[in-house]
Amino acid sequence: MSCCAPKGYARLFGKRAARRDVRRYEKDGLDDTGARMVAFLRERGVEGATVLDVGGGVGALQLELLEAGAAHATNLELSPEYEEAALGLLRERGVEERVDRRLGDLVADPDLAEPADAVLMHRVVCCYPDYDALVGAAAGRARRYLVMSFPRDRGVIRAGARLLNVWFRLLRWEYRTFVHPPAALVAAAEERGLRLAEETRGGLWQIAALERPGG
Ligand SMILES: C[S@@+](CC[C@H](N)C(=O)[O-])C[C@H]1O[C@@H](n2cnc3c(N)ncnc32)[C@H](O)[C@@H]1O
Repeated sequence: MSCCAPKGYARLFGKRAARRDVRRYEKDGLDDTGARMVAFLRERGVEGATVLDVGGGVGALQLELLEAGAAHATNLELSPEYEEAALGLLRERGVEERVDRRLGDLVADPDLAEPADAVLMHRVVCCYPDYDALVGAAAGRARRYLVMSFPRDRGVIRAGARLLNVWFRLLRWEYRTFVHPPAALVAAAEERGLRLAEETRGGLWQIAALERPGG
């Protein structure tokens, strides 16, 4: 477990979860939400682009973008437990030279990652209490696009999150899950100069894709 990952992160986002994520990706490809996030960027052109995947896990989204012509990706993760499975996947696809994998918290240390043309945060803001700081740090790193997914703000989803948090409390993990208000997430990015370009809602997940005017 890294110095700064709250207790519970490395268990929840541990080696078993990493191996499961790789297996699922190899068998079924991206989940629908991740696929739409990648499609948003592909529709705008990723040839030669740089990508920053914050909380990218095993790195499936960045792999798809690299295969679509992106030049380089950086994966910044709080949990160190994904590294082995992610490196296996990168080697299998022959793109390990085009990916930097770094560990740390983007909010605590934004300089861990250089600015990139496209910043992704797939299912990440729901793991972090201070959404304004996280979205703000990610937006500050986005030269052209910030594409993020997060849980929809629906009663049933908020109730599910509350139940999960009771369970984490019983386990004495510091980790909590959050349903942040979608409008506030978008506003946090807009305050840093980005403009909402596309919003998509599924049953559980919502996507906000933002772009930088003139970027
Ligand atoms: C639910 S997982 C999602 C992994 C991957 N994006 C996916 O959708 O399969 C959320 C990840 O975000 C990471 N994370 C949360 N806050 C972070 C932060 N401030 N900086 C870097 N990583 C963070 C966690 O370590 C965790 O691995």
